[in-house]
Amino acid sequence: MTTIKRAAIIGGGVIGAGWIARLIENGVVVSVFDPAPDAKEKIDAVLVNSRYAYKKLSNLTGPKEGRVIFCESVAEACHLAELIVESVPERLATKQVVYAEIENYADINAIIASSTSGILPSDLQAFMSNPERFLVAHPFNPVYLLPLVEIVGGSKTSSTVIQKAEAIYQSIGMHPLIVKKEIEAFIADRLLESLWREALWLVKDGIATTQDIDDAVRFGFGLRYAQMGIFDTYRVAGGEAGMRHFIEQFGPCLKWPWSKLTDVPELDDELVDKIASQSDEQSGHMSIREMERIRDDNLIEILQGLKRNNWGAGQTLANYESRFLNAANDPG
Ligand SMILES: NC(=O)c1ccc[n+]([C@@H]2O[C@H](COP(=O)([O-])OP(=O)(O)OC[C@H]3O[C@@H](n4cnc5c(N)ncnc54)[C@H](O)[C@@H]3O)[C@@H](O)[C@H]2O)c1
Repeated sequence: MTTIKRAAIIGGGVIGAGWIARLIENGVVVSVFDPAPDAKEKIDAVLVNSRYAYKKLSNLTGPKEGRVIFCESVAEACHLAELIVESVPERLATKQVVYAEIENYADINAIIASSTSGILPSDLQAFMSNPERFLVAHPFNPVYLLPLVEIVGGSKTSSTVIQKAEAIYQSIGMHPLIVKKEIEAFIADRLLESLWREALWLVKDGIATTQDIDDAVRFGFGLRYAQMGIFDTYRVAGGEAGMRHFIEQFGPCLKWPWSKLTDVPELDDELVDKIASQSDEQSGHMSIREMERIRDDNLIEILQGLKRNNWGAGQTLANYESRFLNAANDPG
């Protein structure tokens, strides 16, 4: 098991803070650089949520929580870091400037990982002096609870670095998914974007409100997707005749078609107002903090249910916890 002792987080917003939470939970000392004056306050708020979540998720004693060190510069943050996580806003030029600065100070063996949701790693690493140690490690919010991290190498990324990163992410309880070829938005966000695009059309065309669409997900197929993905779900739906029968039955619908696919509705003021006001009506009575707590409580129960069945993300959690049990039982 490849473990690390020191990491740096450059950009401590929603995702950077989630990475900090997951890393310190695993005993890693994390140095953070974020120039925003309220960065510490926001990170502290996420750590309140994550500590609460971890306490509920498992009653096993893991490693002693790592320290968080707030730094004044990229140079200070990168000092001694074995893994440097970039989580700055989703702009290619901004990220490239950050890598140039990181490379001035990082140890030559440090892995540099971008949290980008969709920019190609080959573009991100284009001007780096040592691009072989760069990769994308795309996590999902909340990073401290969801195990998936998509690992994507660029044309200059070394395969050894990918293997090393895979072991590091496993050591902090994650499920690294190696994306075989780089493509914009990788796997999960391509799927999510197609769903979101269709949802925007349904609101624009007055077929459903934001509430209706969310209900269509959470009372039905959303429940299925936490435990089986698209293909296994449809295999089961095909009955004994399985996948071939399912494709025979529903394949033709793809050509009718039932969805608007790549056609994007114009996000003009009218549509944005419509969506925002429906969303206010749906959930405006709760604060974001309250919604985060509800989300985390639900995710914990789902993960624990899946753990009892030793299935999917629950199996990842069980494997992770078994390391603590083995460590606790090790007389040495
Ligand atoms: N929000 C999500 O659900 C999500 C999920 C997965 C990946 N991502 C990706 O993670 C990255 C960060 O997204 P986010 O949602 O955390 O954004 P965010 O706006 O919440 O946080 C970005 C942070 O970066 C800081 N920052 C800006 N310039 C900086 C610089 N030069 N050096 C250091 N810090 C700097 C900002 O002060 C801010 O705190 C993006 O690439 C995004 O695509 C986001």
